[in-house]
Amino acid sequence: MSNSILVVFAHPAFERSRINRLMLDQATALDNVAVCDLYELYPDFYIDVAAEQQKLREHDIIVLQHPLYWYSCPALMKEWIDLVFEPGFAYGPGADALKGKWLLTATSAGGKLESYTREGHNGATVQELLLPFNRTATLCGMRYLPPFVVHSGHKLKRDEIQEYADQYGELLTEFREEHISLKQANSVVELNELLPSFHPNNGGG
Ligand SMILES: Cc1cc2nc3c(=O)[nH]c(=O)nc-3n(C[C@H](O)[C@H](O)[C@H](O)COP(=O)(O)O)c2cc1C
Repeated sequence: MSNSILVVFAHPAFERSRINRLMLDQATALDNVAVCDLYELYPDFYIDVAAEQQKLREHDIIVLQHPLYWYSCPALMKEWIDLVFEPGFAYGPGADALKGKWLLTATSAGGKLESYTREGHNGATVQELLLPFNRTATLCGMRYLPPFVVHSGHKLKRDEIQEYADQYGELLTEFREEHISLKQANSVVELNELLPSFHPNNGGG
């Protein structure tokens, strides 16, 4: 048995992306991982709700991949959630389309790992900041997982970014092959910690 994964991707300035571009290359290369690039599909913000709901129905694990923008996701991803997670589909009486699916965020942040602590510059972990996604998933009966996070985005060199991208590919593969249990996933603050190749990047600003 293996899981099918849908990566819902949002980057408003993909042509300037250093990190998400390499992460997306990894996702695109994997079997049984579908990628939906929202800014490419819907540059005018007119989302095909029925088509997006069908994609969600067809996959077991939903990954929201985006750069961290003002401690959240870019606008089109929020619009996608607002429109696609409809009552009767995602929640409310009789709605069970998303029940039991797993949802996680894969994001890149300009800020370094240490700045994302209660005591640090940003005053909270990325996981804590993503609480609205956690609650949304939970309300819809999904199983919400900690995020995969690339830190110190502005300072990373090309080979360091590639290392993170490889980790992301590794993580998607582990999830696809059901090698990571819900319990394991929920035992960490960031999913990066579950990978054998993980080493925290504390550099950068
Ligand atoms: C509008 C905007 C808002 C941003 N907000 C944050 C933020 O809240 N926290 C953070 O760590 N980085 C923030 N950044 C930095 C981006 O997250 C960073 O440039 C991005 O993750 C790099 O990924 P990329 O190479 O794929 O573009 C922001 C950048 C922009 C343009």
